[in-house]
Amino acid sequence: MFERPRGTNDWGPEDMARRRQVEAAFVRTAESFGFREVGTPMFESLELFTAKSGPTIVNELYAFKDRSGRDVALRPEFTASILRFYVADLRSRPKPVKVYCAGPAFRYEEPQKGRYREFYQLNAEIIGGAPLPSDAETLALAIGTMRAIGLKQVRARIGHLGMLRSYLPFGPPDQAAILHALDKKDFAALGAELDRLGRSDLGGPLRDLVGLSGDTLVLEKAQEILEGTGTEAFEYLRKLSEHLHGYGVDPSDFTFDMGVVRGLDYYTGMVFEIDSPNLGAEKQVGGGGAYSLAEIFGGEPVQQTGFALGLDRLVLAAEAEGVLPPSKALDAFVVPIGDGMRDRALEVLAMLRAAGFRADVDLVGRGPSKNLDHANALGARHAILVGEREWKGGSVAVRDMVTGAQREVSRKTLVEGLRSALSR
Ligand code: HAM
Repeated sequence: MFERPRGTNDWGPEDMARRRQVEAAFVRTAESFGFREVGTPMFESLELFTAKSGPTIVNELYAFKDRSGRDVALRPEFTASILRFYVADLRSRPKPVKVYCAGPAFRYEEPQKGRYREFYQLNAEIIGGAPLPSDAETLALAIGTMRAIGLKQVRARIGHLGMLRSYLPFGPPDQAAILHALDKKDFAALGAELDRLGRSDLGGPLRDLVGLSGDTLVLEKAQEILEGTGTEAFEYLRKLSEHLHGYGVDPSDFTFDMGVVRGLDYYTGMVFEIDSPNLGAEKQVGGGGAYSLAEIFGGEPVQQTGFALGLDRLVLAAEAEGVLPPSKALDAFVVPIGDGMRDRALEVLAMLRAAGFRADVDLVGRGPSKNLDHANALGARHAILVGEREWKGGSVAVRDMVTGAQREVSRKTLVEGLRSALSR
């Protein structure tokens, strides 16, 4: 017997139906916002990710050499691939470029509930817009997707990495080390880094700063701690909150949180994370913000902002809140009454399938009563009984599998009759 690789999942039909429902809510919402779908490879050259994604992701890569000795890696996320694609091709399109994609991503992590080595992201990026409207649109799409799924408990925490970066008087590698310690709220590591850099005086203010969360009052407190640096960032976040009101985002859906630092190195401006409070340890269903990758990949400086939601976690959240409608079973199971009627049953089956119904027929050779049991076990809404007597009269018998009621229906009106029965 073979076992699944650690951190991967098999998804049964009911699981897949729920995953598709959640993905469809994202696709519907993204399309309604004017985003277009793109696709990128599932593996890329290793360098694409080591260039700027940061140690959190790089240490978790599925990286290997291909048969020609090239270093490649399975994608741990979409953003780097989309920005590579943007610089090579999409940049000739009218700005802003608004794109989305959905698919599996791979990270070598310690698996637990909601944290897998193969997981599925719903990702959107806006490239080449003005900062404030693009950031607001990004957040509105992320929150709007969660609402479209039916989730009631949505909590976006919004921070600003530009503010933190301008407060840290260090070059990029040292800044990254401090930011990683802050992201993990690892104050021992933070203290050690600041000691090494001879700036242990920054430890207190930084700890106070990342502990701040709440409404716009938080921004004033943060401004006091930073004593003048980062003023623009606070004004920006105030305006962002006004934009979000304009989108109709409920004020209770988001808070400001100066502790949102993010684990990826490419962020430069507004950053956010979204939690679904029901989920326990792996409650972060999404994250994103404004970043700069195009420049690193050889493109001109341009505003870049986006997010990814984790589909696996969204489904867990939707299950915990009980908001996903049960997946639809078969519309009709066609039952030939007697061996001689099988071809006639196939005719009816073909007609129903062509009309767009989910219709099935026995492939095992069961008799009529076993077939009805089977239709019941499948949860079919109707059984269509094709018998010689009815056929000669131009009709079939339709049994409602929920009520058990059975009636004769002309084959000419069967499609219409089923359609109106199923819409009830
Ligand atoms: P991220 O925060 O690394 O951001 O991942 C986004 C979401 O993917 C997480 O919030 C989580 O729901 C899900 N996720 C991440 N790792 C796992 C895992 N091992 N198992 C299950 N779910 C997981 C990014 O990936 C950025 N590229 C987002 C972005 C787009 N920023 C700008 N544009």
